[in-house]
Amino acid sequence: MSGERDEAGARALLRELVSDVRQWSEWNQVLGADALPMAPPTAPAEPARAPETPPRTMDSGPRPAAPPAPSTGESAPRSRPTFEPTRRPGPPPARQGNGILGPIRAELGDCTRCGLHEGRKNLVFGVGSETAELVIVGEAPGQQEDLTGEPFVGRSGQLLTRMLGAIGLRRDQVYICNVIKCRPPNNRDPSPQEVATCSPFLVQQVEAIGPRAVMTVGKFASQRILGLEDTMGRMRGQTHQWEGVPVVPTYHPAYLLRNPSAKRQAWEDLLRVRGLLRR
Ligand code: URA
Repeated sequence: MSGERDEAGARALLRELVSDVRQWSEWNQVLGADALPMAPPTAPAEPARAPETPPRTMDSGPRPAAPPAPSTGESAPRSRPTFEPTRRPGPPPARQGNGILGPIRAELGDCTRCGLHEGRKNLVFGVGSETAELVIVGEAPGQQEDLTGEPFVGRSGQLLTRMLGAIGLRRDQVYICNVIKCRPPNNRDPSPQEVATCSPFLVQQVEAIGPRAVMTVGKFASQRILGLEDTMGRMRGQTHQWEGVPVVPTYHPAYLLRNPSAKRQAWEDLLRVRGLLRR
C-alpha cells in the first residue's frame, strides 16, 4: 500500500519536473537563443532587499455620472507563430467589460476627464477573463493599442503573450489592462494628474475581478501601483501587496526586447507569479 503511494508520489514529482523543464525550454524560445546560455532558474528566493510593502489603498475617487459606453475595438493580431504555448480549450475572452466589468466600463463612458481623450482613437479599457486569477497592469496604450482598442497588441504585447505562454497561461485566461486608458501623445509618460484621474477605474476593475495576483510590467506601472519611486531592479524580486492582492513587479516586455540579458530575472518573476496562482 505504502509502496503504491510512494510510486504515485514519484510519478507526480516526475510529471511536475517534466512540466517545469518544458516551460523553461519554452521560455528560452521567447527571447531567442541569443540570450543563452544561462543556468536553469531556481525557485525565486524570499525577499532579500526590503521587507514586503504594506497594503495600501489607492483612492477610488468620486464616481461621475455614466454616459453611454462606446462600441468595442476589433480583435488583436495573434502572437507570432514561432512559439505555441500550451493549448487548452477555453471560452472566448471577455472583451472590454461586458460582464461584471460592464458597470465600470459604462461609468467610464466616452471619457473626457483628462486631456488624453483629445488625441486618442480608442479608449483601451482592458481585455481578458473577468474571473482571471492574474491581472496584468502596464503603463498606457501605445500606437497599436490606440488603433485597436486592445492593450498589449504591439510588439511588446506579442512578447507578453509568449511570456504568459511560458508559464502555461493563454492571454484569454488572464486580464490585461493599463494604469492609463488613453494613449499619451508620442508615448510620453502620463502625468500625475492623468494617473490620479484614471487609476480609480483600474482599482475598480481589480476589485471586481478579485485576482489571486497582479503582475505589474515596467517601472511606471510598478511605481504607480506600489506608490514607490524605486528602480525596477529594487522593486522586482519580491511580492508586494496592493488592495489586498499580491503584486509581482517585472520588467516591461519592451525593455526585455532591448535587454534580453534581463530574461533570467523575468523568468524568476514569472515563476513567482505561477507560485501565487498554484496555491
Ligand atoms: N505598453 C504598455 O504599457 N501597455 C500597452 O498596452 C502597450 C504597451
